[in-house]
Amino acid sequence: MSTLTVTKLTKRFGGLIAVNGVDFTFRSGVISAVIGPNGAGKTTFFNMITGLYAPDDGIVELDGRSIGGAKPNRITSLGIARTFQNIRLFGSMTVLENVMVGMHGRLKAGLFGSIFQPPRVRHEEIEATLEGYRLLEYFGLEEWMNERADSLPYGAQRRLEIARALATKPKVLLLDEPAAGMNPRETAELTALIKRMQGELDMTVILIEHDMKLVMGLSEHILVLDYGTKIAEGSPDEIRNHPRVIEAYLGKSAGEAEVIA
Ligand SMILES: Nc1ncnc2c1ncn2[C@@H]1O[C@H](COP(=O)(O)OP(=O)(O)OP(=O)(O)O)[C@@H](O)[C@H]1O
Ligand SMILES: [Mg+2]
Repeated sequence: MSTLTVTKLTKRFGGLIAVNGVDFTFRSGVISAVIGPNGAGKTTFFNMITGLYAPDDGIVELDGRSIGGAKPNRITSLGIARTFQNIRLFGSMTVLENVMVGMHGRLKAGLFGSIFQPPRVRHEEIEATLEGYRLLEYFGLEEWMNERADSLPYGAQRRLEIARALATKPKVLLLDEPAAGMNPRETAELTALIKRMQGELDMTVILIEHDMKLVMGLSEHILVLDYGTKIAEGSPDEIRNHPRVIEAYLGKSAGEAEVIA
C-alpha cells in the first residue's frame, strides 16, 4: 500500500495550461477517482504521475519520496502501473506474452533468451509463465492464453491491459477510462473485478472514468478537474451534490450532466 501525493502539479502545452496547480493526496489502500469533462486534464495528470510528461511545476511524491520527472521505467519499478485510455497491447503477441512483458522489468534474466540457459534462469522463466497464467485466470482470460491479443473481444482486451499492469506488481494502479466502450454488463463485471482486485491485493487504485455509476459505486475519494484546475474533492455524496461540479458538467454536455444529477 502506498500514498501518492501531488502538490501544485502543473503542465502547460504552449499557451494552454492542461493541469493547473493541482493538490491532492490519493490515500493508501483505497480506490480514488479523477473525473471531469472532456479535456479537463485527467490523462495529462496521469501522464505526469507515470513519467510520460515531466511536470512544468509541482511535486509528485510516492510515500513521501519525490518521483516527479522520473522516466516511465523508473516509475514502474517504484511500484506505479497504469493502463491507457486507448488500448495499448502488443496486438500480434499472444495474450500470455502480453502479460509476461509486464513482468519483464522484474525478472533478472531476459525473458526470451536462448535455450542454453543456466537452471536459475529457466526456473525463473517457468515461475513467470505460471504467474502469468494465474493472472490470466484471475481476469478470466486463460482460455485465450495462446491467441493473438488483437483477436480478443474488446472487453477482454481491456481486462488484459489491467492484467498486464498488475504483472509489474504495483502498489499504485492507475486506470484511464477502463470501462470506455464497454456495454452495461461488461461495465458491471469490470466494477466487480476492480473492487475484488483492490481488496485482495491491497492496492492504491486511481481511476479516471466518465461512467458516473462506476465512479460513485467504486471510489471513496474523488478529485474533480475542470480546465486543468481542481474544482472539488470529496466523497461520492459530496461530489454528487457539489454546485461547481454540477455546473461544470451542465455547462459541457447534457448527457454527462444527466448521469451525475
Ligand atoms: N501532448 C499534448 N500537446 C498539446 N496539447 C495537449 C497534449 N495532451 C493534451 N493536450 C491538451 O490538454 C488538455 C487536457 O487534455 P487531456 O487529454 O489531459 O484531457 P482529459 O481530461 O483526459 O480528456 P478526455 O476526457 O477527453 O480524455 C486538452 O485541451 C488537450 O487538447
Ligand atoms: Mg483522457
